[in-house]
Amino acid sequence: MITSRLPHVFFGGDYNPEQWPESVWLEDMRLMREAGVNLVSIGIFSWAKLEPRPGEYDFAWLDRIMDLLAKNAIFADLATASASPPPWLARLHPESLPQNASGTRYFPGARQHYCPNSAAYKSRAAELTRRLARRYKDHPALAMWHINNEYACHVSECFCDVCAAEFRVWLQARYGLIDELNRAWGTAFWSQQYSTWNEILPPRKAPTFCNPAQQLDYKRFMNDSVFELCLSEANILKQITPGLPLTTNFMGWFKPLDYFQWAKALDFVSWDSYPDPSLGMSEVANAAANHDLMRSLKGGQPFVLMEQAPSAVNWRTVNVPKPPGLMRLWSYQALAHGADGILYFQWRAAQAGAEKFHSGMVPHAGENTRVFSEIKQLGHELKKLDGILDSRVPAQVAIVMDWQSRWALELDSHPAPLQYVQQLRHYYDAMRELNIAVDFVAPEGDFSPYKLVLAPALYLVRYGGAENVRMFVARGGTFLTTFFSGIVDENDTVQTGGYPLLLRDVLGVWVEEWDPFPPGRRGTVQVHGSRDLVACDTWGEVVHLCGAKVLATFADGWYAGKPALTLNKVGEGRAFYCATQFERGFTLGLLENICADLKIAPPLEKIPSSIEVCVRSKPEADYLFVLNHSDMPQTVKLQKWKGVDLLSGKKAAGTLKLGPFGVAVIESK
Ligand code: GAL
Repeated sequence: MITSRLPHVFFGGDYNPEQWPESVWLEDMRLMREAGVNLVSIGIFSWAKLEPRPGEYDFAWLDRIMDLLAKNAIFADLATASASPPPWLARLHPESLPQNASGTRYFPGARQHYCPNSAAYKSRAAELTRRLARRYKDHPALAMWHINNEYACHVSECFCDVCAAEFRVWLQARYGLIDELNRAWGTAFWSQQYSTWNEILPPRKAPTFCNPAQQLDYKRFMNDSVFELCLSEANILKQITPGLPLTTNFMGWFKPLDYFQWAKALDFVSWDSYPDPSLGMSEVANAAANHDLMRSLKGGQPFVLMEQAPSAVNWRTVNVPKPPGLMRLWSYQALAHGADGILYFQWRAAQAGAEKFHSGMVPHAGENTRVFSEIKQLGHELKKLDGILDSRVPAQVAIVMDWQSRWALELDSHPAPLQYVQQLRHYYDAMRELNIAVDFVAPEGDFSPYKLVLAPALYLVRYGGAENVRMFVARGGTFLTTFFSGIVDENDTVQTGGYPLLLRDVLGVWVEEWDPFPPGRRGTVQVHGSRDLVACDTWGEVVHLCGAKVLATFADGWYAGKPALTLNKVGEGRAFYCATQFERGFTLGLLENICADLKIAPPLEKIPSSIEVCVRSKPEADYLFVLNHSDMPQTVKLQKWKGVDLLSGKKAAGTLKLGPFGVAVIESK
């Protein structure tokens, strides 16, 4: 359980009472109680109100709202308020403003206008955190801490002189000697050899491609710099309130931060999910993948959906509302994938500011509205779901996700602009179509719970990652990887002697050269044992065998007849290699066969494509979530499943009828 103070499914949202006259607060409390709200994130953007002038603190208003919350049995997820510094910080410390790669400084006037290495920002944010923790540590409303907000969402890299100096310190710690750095960065190329540390700069705007290893290290350094901010606040909170859980809200696939690293510093993972209601099932699958990734960051522990929109957002070009039932359905989707809490941005739709057209749980029109009644309905339904708390999503399949490999893969001057998430989604979406649960795992993470590990486009492979794969396969695991994997080491240096050098023995193949496809080009593949040709796109390559057997060959072009899909048996296990991107249907069939072989079965067989089924389990019970993602009624055969639908309270067995966007949560003991 995330906290024994609140042993229920969390329900609430970002609450910004400082934007409203106090007369509205009482109405807020009444409406929160009516809606079943039990947790609000408070103070996220309150720094200027809490410290209106440097060193002059005003907590009186926060005292009043915290007391009101306690009186109304609503808990606070209290923010450290460091997400948006007050204007005086920029006035007193202009160097605290971040700078882009061209040397332009950002101005204050929006939010997140701080350089992650600014000493002034760091010490002021730390002091505010300390004061908040000391003041509220025994407050009955305080349930948990919300550190900052969506770290790096607007400014993920700063290129200022302070960062340049810190980068040098970071590099010295990593490489020790300048010659070691020269070697790791391959600076013999283009006369880039450094004679002293002081010559090294961030990868600022240069005439053409900056050194790729420098770029990669800068991404690592920036991730670490922002992480240090989070750690410094976390350490203060842990010291003053050791018993209280803390989190910061993540953003799913968000590229700049290595969330596997970050999650270790948090007590629980929380994240903000904003699928576009106008985009249909692909967006639904993307949300599912993100939920699975967030759940996986702390080894399957329940996470919290910290923000979602009650209806429309304000930041797309066209902001479509969620039609009736969709917000409820997507909330259950988060629970189905392992969330123990559903919160929104934000409680009340704002009257002013850049987000005034963002939906709120309480819309501008007030409580007699569709959105508020859907919020109320959900808030009350969730009270029936306390049983799911702490249950886990059992997965036998994992997809490797590596932030560092993604950073390196997506650098410039590559054979083709491969997008990591797109590559992962090709395989994730196929598993999803099969309705088989998937975890994500770091390359050096624990593979032992899985029978099948997929590692698409794992461009950068570290020695430990390769060893992990080797051990997994030797012990009977099934591994699959794809083209442009295992190309470079952690310094983005190519491993010569036939790609992918570190995985060559596992895969039983080596690759001589690549043939990336320009947009629109399709190729064909001949599957052995079948007369049909299968379409492929994105990539082709010249593969040689060194132990593997061929399952399919390229059917056209100058390397026709060479392997496109191979299988290698090693020890008890097997390793597949895909030298191209197969058409969706083929990948689906391949994974279906592999899963059938490994006896990995979906909770329900052969269900309509708009139905999603997920299982959460704990020793006393299993929970089958059945979600209808279509706006038409659907009927689902429950097959072996029997139990009680916790939402309707009715027995569920045989056939289940779901209305448009309908949901059932079947408890089976
Ligand atoms: C999130 C952010 C919130 C709010 C919201 C609007 O990214 O954390 O503060 O801006 O977006 O959708």
